[in-house]
Amino acid sequence: TLTPLDRAKCAAACRAADFVEGGMKVGLGTGSTAAFLIRRLGERWREEGLRFRGVPTSTRTADLAREEGIEVISLEEARWLDLTIDGADEVDGSLNLIKGGGGALLQEKIVATASDRMVVIADAGKRVETLGAFPLPVEVVPFGWTATRALIEEVLVGMDVLGRTTSLRMNGDMPFVTDEGHYIIDLHLNRIGNARQLSLVLNQIPGVVENGLFLDICDTLVMGHGDGRVEVHD
Ligand code: A5P
Repeated sequence: TLTPLDRAKCAAACRAADFVEGGMKVGLGTGSTAAFLIRRLGERWREEGLRFRGVPTSTRTADLAREEGIEVISLEEARWLDLTIDGADEVDGSLNLIKGGGGALLQEKIVATASDRMVVIADAGKRVETLGAFPLPVEVVPFGWTATRALIEEVLVGMDVLGRTTSLRMNGDMPFVTDEGHYIIDLHLNRIGNARQLSLVLNQIPGVVENGLFLDICDTLVMGHGDGRVEVHD
């Protein structure tokens, strides 16, 4: 009784769950696709006796992993990881990503870059020619966030993008607050011509903590289709 979209996410997640081997330290991503992965890993834990340690990228994921009986450790304890499996909001042909739709980009980026290998699990709808249709999340410190936002808008003028509006991510009437206590400003760029330059420039702005561009971080894309087919791209 899964919708085609959920079948696609589930198929990708289940294939990637097979990459986990006994004794590994594994980064566990955030989002609805990652939730399928964690449930599948919970199944393997119970049915096959698979034993590994998971490092969650959000409190949501930590809660779900514990519910599934998976052993959860912090990144400080793990120090480095064999593998991270996470979802994405967009992925291009070079396996560059936009992440952070769920607001966990900072922890996700720290965990992914501390890993020997990053595998992205996604439904085929996430695949794009050029990044940018999905709003780019930028995590900012709450102190002086309006000044930080103004600086972001100023540097966007010189960037190769098609749109330049920004919005503070909300949670009802209040700003959305990340696990690390920051705000998120979403950049509506439509098309990002030079992701590398944009990422560098954004991260130079005082008050910007991190942005949702994951460049040269992902090693493998596991893409699911609505009919249950899965493609693996390295
Ligand atoms: C979380 O911050 C994001 O980076 C997620 O990985 C992304 O939003 C994918 O979520 P879904 O799997 O729910 O589409």
